[in-house]
Amino acid sequence: MTSTTTDFDLNRIGPDFIADPYPTLHRLRAARPVHRNADGSVFLTRYADVLKVYQSRDMLSDKATEFAAKFGDCPLHRHHTTSLVFNDPPYHSTVRKLLAAAFTPRKLAEFEPLIDGIVDRLIDRVAEMGDFDMIEDFAKVLPTEIISFMLGVPEEIRPKLRGYSVAILGALDPVVPPDRLAAGNAAVAEFAEILDDLITRRRANPDGAAQGEVLEALIFGEHEGRRLSQEELIQNCIFLLNAGHETTTSLVGNAVGTLLDNPDQHRRLQEDPGLITTAVEEFLRVESPLQIGNRRAGAEIELEDCTLPNGTYIHTSIAAANRDPSVFPDPDRVDIARKPNRQIAFITGPHVCLGATLARIEGRIAIGKLVDRFPHLAPAGARTRLGLARFRGFTAFPVTTR
Ligand code: HEM
Repeated sequence: MTSTTTDFDLNRIGPDFIADPYPTLHRLRAARPVHRNADGSVFLTRYADVLKVYQSRDMLSDKATEFAAKFGDCPLHRHHTTSLVFNDPPYHSTVRKLLAAAFTPRKLAEFEPLIDGIVDRLIDRVAEMGDFDMIEDFAKVLPTEIISFMLGVPEEIRPKLRGYSVAILGALDPVVPPDRLAAGNAAVAEFAEILDDLITRRRANPDGAAQGEVLEALIFGEHEGRRLSQEELIQNCIFLLNAGHETTTSLVGNAVGTLLDNPDQHRRLQEDPGLITTAVEEFLRVESPLQIGNRRAGAEIELEDCTLPNGTYIHTSIAAANRDPSVFPDPDRVDIARKPNRQIAFITGPHVCLGATLARIEGRIAIGKLVDRFPHLAPAGARTRLGLARFRGFTAFPVTTR
């Protein structure tokens, strides 16, 4: 049940919440911004509270205990407890440091011509098709190509990546049915085997080429005298491949959905393409691809009007924070020129998204060129949602350019 704030429980949400979480999130923020679920965890919906949790170094990301209870001893448990995002220092600092060099603005700027070329080719292809699927034929292709290039993933494996990521990330939802757990475990096992082989071959034959530069940095890089083990390499590469394309696919898909649902804003962007930078921030705000995060309080934390004790398990609603009326006037209205726009789709603090700049570049180029090239872009059938609470996007989105 998600209809009233008193009977809301994040661990019992249903399809109504997944289809449209925003009315429930508004009601919770207004009535119970620090909402306690039946299991004792809290769900935060106010911008100031969510921000404070993310900025605090006392809030822990390590999920070893929670994931042991949720997954038991299985591939999903090994994967999620080994990736940097669900760890704290010193391990988190080691992996982040090894990756950071590949994600500097200067390095990422070098990708712009590659991104331009991929988007141009994609646009020519869908132009020929006339009717196409926004996700399958367009949105997922660019980020999959880029992150695969960075890690040196061969072409024949790339089409499998979205299936793996939906299965693996889907297991992070608050409610996970057994068939989804099984699919997640199978995906980690299969993906790990592929990466084991890729890493072993690259370790034996480093070639310093631009393709796979990130993988080489992870394999051969050292932080405070420590290198990553084969298992750590495999699991962090799986995470990076998933993180690098899943949410960016949703950024592009959600942006197109938002534009088609708001024809005035669609027209505005066509007439003033220079608005693309603020438009991307607005798409990230109104339909945040990652909607819910989690932390465990490693110390007492003082929120706007209450204090949570050390040990509290916290769910942060990024989606609710990004529509908090005290920060974003008229928060449900889409305004592609909104300024200021302090949206936190990439969060902030020690785990701030490492790929935020890259995602923004990809979003700007892909959405900008699509809007420019197809003035008559229109829906051509029903959209199918991912069906997850934590990740918001589509699996199918038929459109036509005619
Ligand atoms: C629109 C696209 C994206 C969104 C909305 C997004 C969002 C996020 C969020 C909210 C987190 C923090 C998770 C947490 O600590 O709870 C995160 C972490 C991360 N993201 Fe992204 N992301 C996007 C694209 C990317 C891309 C393109 C890459 C890489 C190529 C990437 C790599 C990472 C990495 C490595 C982390 C872990 C950082 C850490 O734990 O220190 N992301 N992302």
